[in-house]
Amino acid sequence: MKKIFLNKQQILLLVFFLILFSCKDKTTEDAKINDLLSKMTLQEKIGQMNQLNGRNPNENLFEQIRKGEAGSILNAEKPELVNQLQKISVEESRLGIPLLIARDVIHGYKTIFPIPLGQAASFNPDIVEKGARIAAIESSEYGIRWTFAPMIDISRDARWGRIAESFGEDTYLSECLGVAMVKGFQGDDLSQPSSIAACAKHFVGYGAAEGGRDYNSTFIPERLLRNVYFPPFESAVKAGCATIMTSFNDNDGVPSSGNKFILKDVLRDEWKFDGVVVSDWASVREMIKHGFCANESEATISAVNAGLDMDMVSYCYIQCLDSLVKAGAVSEKIIDNAVRNILRLKFRLGLFDHPYIDTNEKSKAYCEDHLQAAKQAATESFVLLKNEKNTLPLSSSIKKLAIIGPLADAPHDQMGTWCFDGDKTKIQTPLNAFREIYGKDVEIIYEQTLAYSRDKNKSAFPKAISAAQKSDAIVVFVGEESILSGEAHCLAELNLQGEQSTLIKELKKTGKPIIMVVMAGRPLTIAEEVDLSDAVLYAWHPGTMGGPAIADMIFGKTVPSGKLPVTFPKYVGQIPMYYNHNNTGRPAKRTEILLNDIPLEPRQSSLGCTSFYLDAAFDPLFPFGYGLSYTTFEYKDLKLSSDNLNKTDTLSVKFTLSNTGKYDATEIVQLYVRDMVGSITRPVKELKAFERIFLKSGERKEINMQLPIQQLAFWNIDFKKTVEPGDFQLMLGTNSIEGLKADFKVK
Ligand code: NOJ
Repeated sequence: MKKIFLNKQQILLLVFFLILFSCKDKTTEDAKINDLLSKMTLQEKIGQMNQLNGRNPNENLFEQIRKGEAGSILNAEKPELVNQLQKISVEESRLGIPLLIARDVIHGYKTIFPIPLGQAASFNPDIVEKGARIAAIESSEYGIRWTFAPMIDISRDARWGRIAESFGEDTYLSECLGVAMVKGFQGDDLSQPSSIAACAKHFVGYGAAEGGRDYNSTFIPERLLRNVYFPPFESAVKAGCATIMTSFNDNDGVPSSGNKFILKDVLRDEWKFDGVVVSDWASVREMIKHGFCANESEATISAVNAGLDMDMVSYCYIQCLDSLVKAGAVSEKIIDNAVRNILRLKFRLGLFDHPYIDTNEKSKAYCEDHLQAAKQAATESFVLLKNEKNTLPLSSSIKKLAIIGPLADAPHDQMGTWCFDGDKTKIQTPLNAFREIYGKDVEIIYEQTLAYSRDKNKSAFPKAISAAQKSDAIVVFVGEESILSGEAHCLAELNLQGEQSTLIKELKKTGKPIIMVVMAGRPLTIAEEVDLSDAVLYAWHPGTMGGPAIADMIFGKTVPSGKLPVTFPKYVGQIPMYYNHNNTGRPAKRTEILLNDIPLEPRQSSLGCTSFYLDAAFDPLFPFGYGLSYTTFEYKDLKLSSDNLNKTDTLSVKFTLSNTGKYDATEIVQLYVRDMVGSITRPVKELKAFERIFLKSGERKEINMQLPIQQLAFWNIDFKKTVEPGDFQLMLGTNSIEGLKADFKVK
């Protein structure tokens, strides 16, 4: 290919024209918006700010659309209905403005990917992006052009049912994966028919609900908001995320839907967000129940003045805004701004040019490419937590395999939370997969034993025991049904439900190797069951292709690589438990449980006065970033490019990684940094970079990771985001507690 070289002048000219074109684009966009806005009545403007529920469409809904009283409809479930609603809006309303059709497309539309918490365990932005792309392709066929994802709430509490929807406890990981999901949904160009607008939610702090109880209040001070909870949202905005949803919680007494600080000062003024802010379901009206507003009018004033553009189904805006503007309580300028944001999104999505969908087009749902991507995502999401004496993978000497438990063949539960549109008949369960893929060589003996995870009926236990006795190994599928996690599905106890634990204890008595596969929407407190098992694979709710992905891993066709995106506590009472906590003045040293060894009438200070529990010590069951492989990796020769850096430098971190085991495999290398002393106390470590590295058995590679020093910036005592000079400790390794260490200074 002939190379073209440009001289300096030509490059400048090119840059000039590029800038000119992008400004022109912006002016055309603004001109189109302003032109339309100038034709709108106040009522029509308010109509754009109103989102209605399309679940039970009736003449009343059609009439509202006809009158221009709806800017968006969520949950219109059929393509024909979407076209019908669009037709009314485009052809029968005065200005013919198309509707924004929205739906919760969270981890797949038809082809279901693992729950987001499972996807996070892959530490793989590419597979997360691909999953979102596929979800966009499948859902846009149904006329959906706006999803309410990614959910990027930092979640440090496994009791909270919505942890399943999140990317876990870490800010940096949530940033990377949130951006990947936004890119996947929105594609390269929002105006393409298969692109759908993303929505970063829930702004903000929702995951910190007190006691892990959904919708509960949060008390997050501004600095913590800025250092931990804001960054995933700021990164999503920078990546072009089209919309943001406010959260249900009140933080320090202010419900998010009426919080001017987060919506105006931060989102609009600091981050320059020009997309749409939508409330969560009825959260504008809920400000009355919060006791923050006395009535619908006050709630409307509070939300609209804070900068909330669209009211999701609480009808406050449509009922109150007209008279509030006329009474001077809300300025029309604020309304115009909100409507501009909404129209801008409609123009960017190309809805004015292509409001309808072609219902005759062949659907791509469940096509081979989508299924294979879902399988890969599931494979990469699995975390091997234990593998005593290399129990896994199972060898060819296994001739009879007992498949036992309530989740071995539970298509509905395998999909996980927030799956309105996945077809359960398309789900490939582990039982099917073992039979279909491995049934020729291995006799599969199946006993469901418990009908579902909460089942307390033990009458089928004898059959399970006899199946186990006849077999060479047992794979027991336990965990939780999908309904036990997700919105408003919080738990105060995280033990295995029903009689699942007893089942494992009974199986143990057979002396056969036990492989425990856990399907769940959150970390469960399974210390005892882990002890009883020879191998443990955490499979989350793995989606459509979870079955074959599990079967292949059990038989060694694939090798586990997933790492925990969240700390697993031993006991619920240890929550909140997260790896990047502060050190305290008295960090814990002991890991043993002391409760029963305390002598009678000891001295008050005899136990050492450190930050731990007498009955649970302080260490987790499994730390953040933990996950085993069938192979082994060795980290060596850590070298930093310098141990004395400027704030503008980039640190090169070199090391060699060797695959010292028998399997080709991927290792997720994690780089953590501790800022030793700060103007405020700093976490004991923070994830700053990660990389997936594939090595063949016996292979050795020199790796070079880059860490821009700017990434060590934080909001300090003066509320400035800065890198403070001083000493830092770097840790590079296979999880958040094991690794090679090196120190450096920043000037
Ligand atoms: C309430 C949930 O909190 C939110 O995440 C979801 O997108 C909306 N309902 C719409 O279904």
